[in-house]
Amino acid sequence: MSTQSPKLAALRRLFPHTQAQIYLNHAATGPLSRPVVRAVQRYLWQRHQGSIDNYAELEAIVQETRRLVAQLLGTSPDRIAFAPSTSAALGLLAQGLDWKPGDRIAIPACEFPANVFPFLNLQRKGVVVDFIPHRNGTFTVEDVARVLTPRTRLVTLSWVQFLSGFCADLSAIAALCHERGIWLSVNAIQGLGALPLNVEVSGVDFLASGTHKWLMGLQGLALCYVRPELQAVLHPPAGWLHGPVDWEHLTDYRLIFYPDARRYETGTLNQTALVALHAALRLHLAAGPAWCARRVLALQQRLGEGLEQLGLTRYGSADPAHASGIISVQHPQAQALALALQRRHIVVSVRNGMLRFSPTYYNSMQEIDLTLEAVADFLGKRKRSRNAK
Ligand SMILES: Cc1ncc(COP(=O)(O)O)c(C=O)c1O
Repeated sequence: MSTQSPKLAALRRLFPHTQAQIYLNHAATGPLSRPVVRAVQRYLWQRHQGSIDNYAELEAIVQETRRLVAQLLGTSPDRIAFAPSTSAALGLLAQGLDWKPGDRIAIPACEFPANVFPFLNLQRKGVVVDFIPHRNGTFTVEDVARVLTPRTRLVTLSWVQFLSGFCADLSAIAALCHERGIWLSVNAIQGLGALPLNVEVSGVDFLASGTHKWLMGLQGLALCYVRPELQAVLHPPAGWLHGPVDWEHLTDYRLIFYPDARRYETGTLNQTALVALHAALRLHLAAGPAWCARRVLALQQRLGEGLEQLGLTRYGSADPAHASGIISVQHPQAQALALALQRRHIVVSVRNGMLRFSPTYYNSMQEIDLTLEAVADFLGKRKRSRNAK
């Protein structure tokens, strides 16, 4: 019998897949809740049934979503832009700064490729990438400090590492960067929606995050935060929606950018994904980001301890100060173990030959215990049963 709180039980009803599977794979792709599906269906139905050119109508949802993103990040809407993907948003930063040959960028050597290639691509402009050494996907502020040089202009890293789940101390790294006049860019896709982040308090200069993982929206949309000091020097790519549109004089070609972060938007946005994000953020903010984070951390702690008790070696750190929703463990038969879990309707992923678990706030303790039992069975070990919460 489950002893879930009424709040958790009500939330789980919005995710019908919880009836049939234990989904611990939010670091790959998040599920769509009932309110998200309803909102997307409504949008598609309008476009199908007659409200076809509903651009103006949708504009209200776009601006409301921008406001909700700002609320989530503890900032104001004038610092928020939308982009087609995390990679595209990071590319906007890479391509928008004025680089000189010999300028340097520091990047942890354990990053997901989306946080590396947009910057390695600047090698053709003579920019040098310095990789920050890591231990099992973790690094200290001192590790970052050691690779900085007088020519370093940018540090770019993930708030939460995609494999180790290591959650970086953004405030300390931002302070280090700013002492030396270096910009700090953060890829937040593996943390946003699971853990709270205030970009103004942390001192991040640029932040990008796709919306299809922990935020539980759709692919094809990323949100982007650009600090005003950075907006002052970051060139926008320019499309046609980077400024106010004069529908009466479209061929006058006056290059006027919005005075805020909307200047980084180029063309028509992915409206379906925006409608999804709007509904997903309303749900997340109503549930309460602090409550969500407490649940994510409690679930990952139980899972981490349980996996260690089963003799599995964690990749990353067990330090609660750097905890996130991701736990990866090493096992020579990671694929076979993932398959054994799949047979019991437990979904995880395998990355770099490691088993990656990524529960979020609607998961239950009972699901974690069932997962640990399934792992124990695969390993031929028995697990003590625990009461579900
Ligand atoms: C850290 C990280 N960054 C970016 C992405 C995805 O990037 P994009 O939104 O460009 O597809 C992923 C996962 O797919 C990721 O784990």
